[in-house]
Amino acid sequence: MEAVKKQIRIATRNCGFIDPENINEYIATRGYEALADAVTNKTPADVVNEIKKAGLRGRGGGGFPTGVKWEVASKYQADQKYVVCNADEGDPGAFMDRAVLEGDPHSVVEAMAICGYAIGATKGTVYIRAEYPLAIKRLQKAIDDARNLGVLGDNIFGSSHSFDIELKYGAGAFVCGEETALIHSMEGERGEPTTKPPFPAESGYWGKPTAINNVETFANIVPIMLKGADWFSSIGTEKSKGTKVFALAGKIKNVGLIEVPMGITLNEVIFEIGGGILGGKKFKAVQTGGPSGGALTYKDLDTPIDYDNLIAKGSMMGSGGMIVMDEDDCMVSVAKFFLDFTMDETCGKCTPCRVGSKRLYEMLEKITQGKGTNEDIARLKQLSVTVKDTALCGLGQTMPNPILSTMRVFEDEYKAHIEDHKCPAGVCSALLQYTIVPEKCVGCTACARVCPVNCISGKVKEVHTIDQKTCIKCGACLEKCKFDAITKQ
Ligand SMILES: Cc1cc2nc3c(=O)[nH]c(=O)nc-3n(C[C@H](O)[C@H](O)[C@H](O)COP(=O)(O)O)c2cc1C
Ligand code: SF4
Ligand code: SF4
Ligand code: SF4
Repeated sequence: MEAVKKQIRIATRNCGFIDPENINEYIATRGYEALADAVTNKTPADVVNEIKKAGLRGRGGGGFPTGVKWEVASKYQADQKYVVCNADEGDPGAFMDRAVLEGDPHSVVEAMAICGYAIGATKGTVYIRAEYPLAIKRLQKAIDDARNLGVLGDNIFGSSHSFDIELKYGAGAFVCGEETALIHSMEGERGEPTTKPPFPAESGYWGKPTAINNVETFANIVPIMLKGADWFSSIGTEKSKGTKVFALAGKIKNVGLIEVPMGITLNEVIFEIGGGILGGKKFKAVQTGGPSGGALTYKDLDTPIDYDNLIAKGSMMGSGGMIVMDEDDCMVSVAKFFLDFTMDETCGKCTPCRVGSKRLYEMLEKITQGKGTNEDIARLKQLSVTVKDTALCGLGQTMPNPILSTMRVFEDEYKAHIEDHKCPAGVCSALLQYTIVPEKCVGCTACARVCPVNCISGKVKEVHTIDQKTCIKCGACLEKCKFDAITKQ
């Protein structure tokens, strides 16, 4: 019950409660009422001011104030403006946006139409990853149904506001979630970022003023318009209002999506909602912000979660990935895992990110193989800072975060790999040694029979031994021995 009690559902309010393919069920939840009210009773400036007053910040990672973005886009004069919904969702393990689009697509359609009215745009595009076929199907149906009902298209609710939405598909490149790369991809160009300014609100899709927002950001718009900015801003912390959807993953009992008020502590999320650590193991760290974020430890458990607090602690909110780690996780390997991801996803346009990611990865690899030196620690830090300072886009600028945060909090673990040639968590296979304890071995031969490289020798009912030079550290013998005679160190 704790898991449910602490949650407040705003962005995911209808998910699981209505049939997402039935527009009437959405309308029964006051659907399209906020759009009707906006285009018939409010000015565009009223809408912008309400969103500004609510204090909604972008849920796609950056946390930029949505109302301010809309205001900027509304002030530029142009023959055409655009609304873009960023549904590229590339963080490993994150599926907040997918859940909203599959469970409540009309909430995004309606919000985009409201945004169009606020900034003076008549065209909207959802850039959605092609790996989300169900979300695409439901979103397309929602758009078609809304158009057939007249809540999209020309002169919505008899007003002068016309707005329609089309879909464009992303091919699964993480960098295409970055707004300038996304726009280039929509225009048929390579999905590579460009420097800002100009920001898309001034010069975006086809060089026109474009308001680009994340799916979850849009999913908050209708409740704000219906219940008011004061209601929304009464939830959360001073500078981060409302709720945030997180994808809980890793070594935690209750995995899955949660929506919690900003200001809730990591402790409440991990131990009350998440039910604590699997198998009674000890909590070690939690990675927020996905590959761009950082590791937080037990010292941070009482920190109220909001944009600014997480940054102050060396991590970030990101789009909502939350991966929990226990005592069996090696933090050098964790940093290597995220670097491996970003190294694969770099678009290669700028040298610090393209080459820096490779050099950083190589150093981490060296350390996990027990071949690192203390100079590597200094080099890792120096190169991480250089990449952060000189990379062109957010991907490169945040890529070293997992390294810097794990080095800051778990420096002893890096040192153990380098100085003692040991992996304290027993993860880095190159640093492990499987040994048979003679006093415990009864010579049952079970280990020798499962060893894939035949490096265990010994006669029946005699003590067995492992040839360390041939052992590939697969761990099969350890699992097989019923007499607890094999150790892993
Ligand atoms: C490498 C990278 C990947 C990103 N991926 C996403 C994404 O998948 N979805 C998203 O909404 N924003 C993503 N962003 C952030 C966008 O650039 C942009 O800030 C966001 O879509 C703005 O919407 P918001 O203000 O509603 O958050 C990414 C940024 C970077 C640097
Ligand atoms: S920082 Fe990386 S992803 Fe961004 S433009 Fe440079 S190479 Fe591409
Ligand atoms: S499985 Fe265990 S007891 Fe049996 S031979 Fe191997 S080490 Fe000895
Ligand atoms: S760890 Fe794998 S390779 Fe090494 S001795 Fe055991 S079974 Fe053989």
